[in-house]
Amino acid sequence: MTPREPAPGAFTDAELERIRADFPILGRIGRGGRPIAYLDASATSQKPACVIDAEADFYRTSNAAVHRGTHLLGDEATSAFEDGRTALARFIGGRPDEIVWTKNATEAINLVALSIGHASAGRGGRAAQRLRLGEGDRIVVSRAEHHANLIPWQELCARTGAELAWLDLTPDGRIDPATLGVITESTRLVAVTHVSNVTGALSPVEAITAAARAVGALVLLDTCQSSAHLPIDVRALDADFAVLSSHKMLGPTGVGALWGRRELLEAMPPVLTGGSMIAHVDMGGATYMDPPERFEAGSQPVAQIAGWTRALDYLTGLGMDRIAAHERELTALMLDAVASIDGVRVLGPADDEDRIGVVAFAVDGVHPHDVGQVMDADDVAVRVGHHCAIPLHSFFGVRSSARASIAPTTSRDEIHRLVDSLARVRSYFGGR
Ligand SMILES: Cc1ncc(COP(=O)(O)O)c(C=O)c1O
Repeated sequence: MTPREPAPGAFTDAELERIRADFPILGRIGRGGRPIAYLDASATSQKPACVIDAEADFYRTSNAAVHRGTHLLGDEATSAFEDGRTALARFIGGRPDEIVWTKNATEAINLVALSIGHASAGRGGRAAQRLRLGEGDRIVVSRAEHHANLIPWQELCARTGAELAWLDLTPDGRIDPATLGVITESTRLVAVTHVSNVTGALSPVEAITAAARAVGALVLLDTCQSSAHLPIDVRALDADFAVLSSHKMLGPTGVGALWGRRELLEAMPPVLTGGSMIAHVDMGGATYMDPPERFEAGSQPVAQIAGWTRALDYLTGLGMDRIAAHERELTALMLDAVASIDGVRVLGPADDEDRIGVVAFAVDGVHPHDVGQVMDADDVAVRVGHHCAIPLHSFFGVRSSARASIAPTTSRDEIHRLVDSLARVRSYFGGR
C-alpha cells in the first residue's frame, strides 16, 4: 500500500496504526487465513482494550448494587453509574438528569412509545395529559427507518387510534424534503433516524424539526448510526428525545440510553415498575421517583455503563471531528471503488455528501448470502440480509442486500480488500 496524503483532519497512517493496535480483535485471523477486515460496524462496533478492561475492572474492584447500602463498594458502583450518566450527557450535549439507562436503543424507543400509550390510557395524572394521543392524531416516521423505530409506533397507533404517516424518499433513498407535508397540524410526534443503517444517508434533520416545531410536534431522533461517527449535540439538533446504543459506539452490549428533555421526562408515566423507582409504596399503590430513576426499574447494567463511559472517553480522545474526517475519506474511496465494479448497485446515495460509511449493495444475479460467503472466505466481514429495514429494501425493489460499514479503525487497505473480494464475487458467479 502506498503512503497516502490524509484528508484534512483525517488520521495519518501512523495514527491509524496506533488506534488499530488498541483493538485486540483486529488481529483475529479468519477462515481464509488473513486478519479479518471487519466491515460490519453498523451492526456492532469492535471494542478497544480499555473498554474491555473497564468492564472487567468494575467486577474486579467495585462490583456492588447501586443506590443501595452504605458500604465502600456500593458507593464506588454508584459513582460509576452516575459518572456514566454525566459522561454520556456531556458527549451528546444534554443534562445528566435527562439520561435514562435502557438495555439498548430499541428499548429506549419502546419506552417513549409505551409511556405515551400509558398517558393516552389516562395514566400519569395531569402532567401526562399533554402526551395523550387518540383518534385524529398523527405520528410521522420515514420509510427509511430501522424496524426499531417503526414497529413501536405502529403498535402505539394501533392502541390509541392515531394514524401513522411517513416521509418518503428520493430515488437514491434520502428522506425527501418534498414530502414534509405529511407533518400536518394533527402530528404529535415525528420519529426519524439521524442516519440510515442501509443507505448511510443523513436525514434532513433541520428541515424535519422545523416542520415539527411549526405544528407543535415532538421530535425523536434515532442516533444509533450517527453517534459513533459524527459529533452530536441533541440541543443543537433541536430534538426532544434521542436514543443511543452503547454497542454501536465501541462500548459493551446490554446497555443503551434515552435522552429526553427534562420537562417531557417529568410528564411521562413509567413503563416498567418495581424496585428502585418508587418514592412511596403501600398495599394500595405507589408513587414514583422523578426521572431518570422513574424509568430505571430493577438492577441496572453497571459494569456495561462503566465500559461505555470508557468508550465515550476513547471516542472523545480520538476526536469526533477527526473520526468524521477519516471516515469521510474512506467513504468516498469505498463508493468509488464499489461503483467501478460492473453489476453492483449501491442502495443509497452514490456521492459522499451528507452520508456516512454505510454502503449497502446488490450484485446482479447473486444472492447477498452468496456475496457474504465469498467475502467471508476472503476474510472480509460484511453483513447480509434486510438489516431490519424491510420497507426500505422494498422501496429499492430488493428483498435483501450486502452491507459494508466502517469504523474509526477502518483502513484504506480494508476497503481495497472489500473491493477485490467483490470483484471475485462477480467473476465467481459469472460476471465480468
Ligand atoms: C438505525 C438503528 N436504529 C435502531 C437500532 C437498534 O439498536 P439496538 O441494537 O441498540 O436496539 C439499530 C441497530 O442496528 C439501528 O441501526
